Amino acid sequence: MEKRIVLLPGDGIGKEIIYSAKKVLQVIAERFNHSFGFIEKQIGGSAIDEFNTPLPKETLEACQRADAVLLGAVGGPKWDSLPAEIRPERGLLKIRKELGLFANLRPVKGFSALIHASPLKEEIIKDSDLLIVRELTGGLYFGQPSERRNNGEAVVDTLYYEKNEIERIVEKAFQFAQMRKKRLTSVDKANVLESSKMWREIVNEKSKNYPDVTVEHMYVDAASMKLITNPSSFDVIVTENMFGDILSDEASVLTGSLGMLPSASTRSDSFGLYEPVHGSAPDIAGKGVANPLGMILSAALMLRYSFGLDKEATIIEEAVNETLIEGYHTPDLQIENGKIVTTDEVTSIIADKVAEG
Ligand code: NAI
Ligand code: MG
Repeated sequence: MEKRIVLLPGDGIGKEIIYSAKKVLQVIAERFNHSFGFIEKQIGGSAIDEFNTPLPKETLEACQRADAVLLGAVGGPKWDSLPAEIRPERGLLKIRKELGLFANLRPVKGFSALIHASPLKEEIIKDSDLLIVRELTGGLYFGQPSERRNNGEAVVDTLYYEKNEIERIVEKAFQFAQMRKKRLTSVDKANVLESSKMWREIVNEKSKNYPDVTVEHMYVDAASMKLITNPSSFDVIVTENMFGDILSDEASVLTGSLGMLPSASTRSDSFGLYEPVHGSAPDIAGKGVANPLGMILSAALMLRYSFGLDKEATIIEEAVNETLIEGYHTPDLQIENGKIVTTDEVTSIIADKVAEG
């Protein structure tokens, strides 16, 4: 298989961990005879320094020509005083919008070696393995008007969705449910919101096309409770932008560490942008101690969701799991009787396992 992958290191630890993902992908390519071409471009603060914009045209064009994009992280104190319009984070919002990436995926799965690091009880989280599918380009975060009124005495935000925006995300979620345990939970607030009522109608309508998938509807308040009291009852969760933002951060505590979580932003075709959930961690940047696992697991998601290479993705995930079970980890994780190693060392251990199979 021949694929073109754009690497966007970004800022801070993004510039370190992106090469961990590249190294693991090169091992996969060698072992399975794939040809992965890598093209590196700037985004975020480093793009501001060089091109005066967080998303240069050549970066966007390279992404548009690629099969998938891997991104490290953007931002840092150096650019914090810039106006919002030209800050590094704007590059990220813009690239998702320009590439039409409307479906954000966050798989959450506990690693047995890290289970004690979660604030939740082991018996609650041990079998949890869920996927949150969040609508990313509509809803409250993009609705107009969004403004102060009456000389600052009142304020309005708008929750706006067009039917097709809901249909496409719901379809995507049904497709993921079909690839997994065939259970879909649609989260809304249909007892008070008109947008949620329409959301529910669309889910019920679409479910006719996926008779093998079991559908349930749940209010967002109930879902947020169930996520930490009985997370293993979920398979795929689909929800609108703001509910998804909140629920996916809540779900991240199940794994016990920010550095472990991958994510994907996708659309109706196979193209996607893959990145760890964490930021650029300026406090540890340049020290060679960043945890590359969230980035490496994002590369695994890319293989699975954009290239259909499920076997290769699973090999990477198992290599990460084994490495943790053997006790090798960066300083941000705690493993009893574990051994603290650097970013490069943990990457090499994983790469060797991937090479051996
Ligand atoms: P952060 O995720 O960068 O860091 C939070 C804490 O977690 C820090 O103590 C950091 O050292 C630690 N941490 C995060 N990822 C780690 C990893 N892979 N290995 C080891 N430790 C890790 O969030 P923070 O500090 O709020 O933001 C820092 C910068 O990152 C800001 O400029 C922010 O805007 C940006 N940011 C960018 C994101 C992105 O590119 N998608 C997402 C979140 C924040
Ligand atoms: Mg958030």
